[in-house]
Amino acid sequence: MIGVFDSGFGGLTIFKAIEKKLPQFDYIYLGDNARAPYGNHSQEVIYEYTRQAVDYLFQAGCDLIILACNTASSEALRKLQQEYVPKKYPGKNILGVIRPLAEAASLMTKNKVVAVMGTRSTVESKSYIKELQIQVRKIKVVQQACPLLVPLIEENWEKTPETKMILKKYIRPLKSHFPDTVILGCTHYGWLQKDIERYFGKNIKVLDSGKIVADKLAEYLLKHPEYAKKTKSKPKTIFLTTDDAKRFQDSAEKYLGRKIKAVRIILNN
Ligand code: DGL
Repeated sequence: MIGVFDSGFGGLTIFKAIEKKLPQFDYIYLGDNARAPYGNHSQEVIYEYTRQAVDYLFQAGCDLIILACNTASSEALRKLQQEYVPKKYPGKNILGVIRPLAEAASLMTKNKVVAVMGTRSTVESKSYIKELQIQVRKIKVVQQACPLLVPLIEENWEKTPETKMILKKYIRPLKSHFPDTVILGCTHYGWLQKDIERYFGKNIKVLDSGKIVADKLAEYLLKHPEYAKKTKSKPKTIFLTTDDAKRFQDSAEKYLGRKIKAVRIILNN
C-alpha cells in the first residue's frame, strides 16, 4: 500500500495523477487539513507534523510514502529519510517531490532561467535552488513566496476574482526575469494550474507536477518491486483528513471528479 501525504487538499493534484498512472495499487491519502497551511510554520513544527503523519501511514500498513507536499519535502524529508525511517521502519521508504520536479525543470529549460512559486518556508529553505544547481551548474532560479494562495484554496476560493487578482500580483515579478520554465513548488497551486499558465503566457512552460511525480514513481517502482505489491482484490483508496470529513469529501470529489468517502483521524503523537 502506498501512502500519499499532504498538509491538506493540495496533494490531491499529485494523487490524481498517481492514481491515473498506477491504478493497480492500494493507496491511503492523508491530508492534515486541521493544521494547514504548513508553509508559514517553522522547520521544527513542520518536521513534527510530518513525522506524526508518517508514523500513522506506516502503522496503517503503507510500505512507501510520497510526501506530496513541497513544504514537508523541503523541511522534513531529508531527516526522515536518513535517520527516522531507516531506524524505526526498516524496509519501508519515503519519497518527496522536490527532486523529480527540479530534474524535470532542468531538462525543460532552454534559457536556464527557472521560476519557482512556493510557500514561504519552501522558498526560504532554498530547496529548489539547491536541487536545480545540482542538475545545471549555471542556472538562474527566481522564487516567489505566495503565502495567500493555500488558505484561499483550502477555503474553496480558487475560482474567485480575488484569488485571480492575488495570483497575478505574485506572477508579475517572476515574469520580469523572463523565465522559460515554472515549477509549482506547492501542490495546492495545481488547483490554479490553468490560470497560472494563462498569466505566464504560452511561451513559458508551467510544469505539470502531478504527471512528473507519477512518472517518477512508476520508474521507481519498476526498480524497487518490493514496494509495488498489488492487491489480490479490487484496488482501493482510503481518504483520511484531520479536519471535517464531509468538507474534505466535498472538495476531493470536486477535484477528483468522483464520489469518495473520507474519514477523520487525529494526529497528535
Ligand atoms: N501543499 C503544500 C506544499 O506543497 C503545503 C501548503 C501549506 O500547507 O502551506 O507546499
